[in-house]
Amino acid sequence: KIEPMQDQLQRPIRDLRISVTDRCNFRCTYCMPKEIFGDDYRFLPSEELLTFEEIVLVAEIFASLGVRKLRLTGGEPLLRSNLPSLIERLWQIDGIEDIGLTTNGLLLGRYADSLMNAGLRRVNVSLDALDPKLFGHINGRGIEPSHILDNIEYARQIGLQVKVNMVVEKGLNEQEILPMAGYFKERGIKLCFIEFMDVGNDNGWSMKKVVTKREIYQLLSSRYELEPLESNYFGEVAQRYQYKDGSAEIGFITSVSESFCSTCTRARLSSEGKIYTCLFASEGFDLRQMLRSGATRSQLIHAIRDVWESRHDRYSDERTEQTAQTRKKINMSYIGG
Ligand code: GTP
Ligand code: 5AD
Ligand code: SF4
Ligand code: SF4
Repeated sequence: KIEPMQDQLQRPIRDLRISVTDRCNFRCTYCMPKEIFGDDYRFLPSEELLTFEEIVLVAEIFASLGVRKLRLTGGEPLLRSNLPSLIERLWQIDGIEDIGLTTNGLLLGRYADSLMNAGLRRVNVSLDALDPKLFGHINGRGIEPSHILDNIEYARQIGLQVKVNMVVEKGLNEQEILPMAGYFKERGIKLCFIEFMDVGNDNGWSMKKVVTKREIYQLLSSRYELEPLESNYFGEVAQRYQYKDGSAEIGFITSVSESFCSTCTRARLSSEGKIYTCLFASEGFDLRQMLRSGATRSQLIHAIRDVWESRHDRYSDERTEQTAQTRKKINMSYIGG
């Protein structure tokens, strides 16, 4: 019998975010700017990625230590081949109650059926603008929003629950807040507004580029009546609201203006098998090295327990313009949000 564990700030572990690749078919300006992630950028070679066997083993161990929820991320997770078969295997782990996928949606039309057959029920799709020119600029590849919208529509048709994520950056896409809200309200799709964060060191973040929840809320209130919803569970990331007419839900992810570190129950596994206890960490713990040198299950359990029990991360509580500029942090595309 394995004892439940808590970190230095008495936080239990509940979620594991698993990055399955560091590659992406987009070059979002705030995540993988083209100037840095160019043709000569060196992504991880495939032998350095955890295999599905390794991922499943790690997820099993995390589940035995308290994880109930898994989320697959990238980069773009749908670029990893046979992803549905991984989902199928993750569902068989004792204790796992929820599996989600966070994707840019470009390949969702192609894979929605097999994801559904593998047991996936929820996808979070990122979309930052409805204006074709602007969206093409933000994604760095000139991809039009209609492709993503069609794929969302298709995913919903076959029974996948879709939530849309919009990163709001001042001077870039705040004029898209109302059009996005209107579009997804009309279709009863949940839209989450994400405050632009200083993930990594290359995304040009400054406090001035953040549009806060308060500002977004005020803008929405000028057109719609909103009411708050209770959070679904301890440590839920988004603050939830709904339109008073009951047409749809919206959420806010307020990492900058109202940080939520005190209830952070998340660990992250990079595609090369490092464990990070914060989105803004600079170093991870190398599990792959243990996995590939014959560590026993009990050694792995001990190592992971040690990592969690020493954890005291609360980056967003402590963020200042200074930490954002000077602290070394992992890249968003490497860890998947
Ligand atoms: P569900 O609630 O399961 O739908 O997922 P989610 O909203 O937690 O995950 P998603 O991948 O859609 O992430 C939405 C945004 O929340 C992204 O910008 C993430 O980087 C951010 N996010 C998720 N977890 C954390 C966290 O622990 N800390 C911070 N600062 N941001 C987070
Ligand atoms: N700030 C906030 N959200 C971000 N995302 C990527 N980079 C950032 C950032 N700098 C979002 C993506 C995706 C989710 C995983 O994280 O748009 O929806
Ligand atoms: Fe954009 Fe997501 Fe790809 Fe980053 S990982 S470039 S946010 S689509
Ligand atoms: Fe958790 Fe780090 Fe995000 Fe705070 S900043 S909520 S500790 S991942």
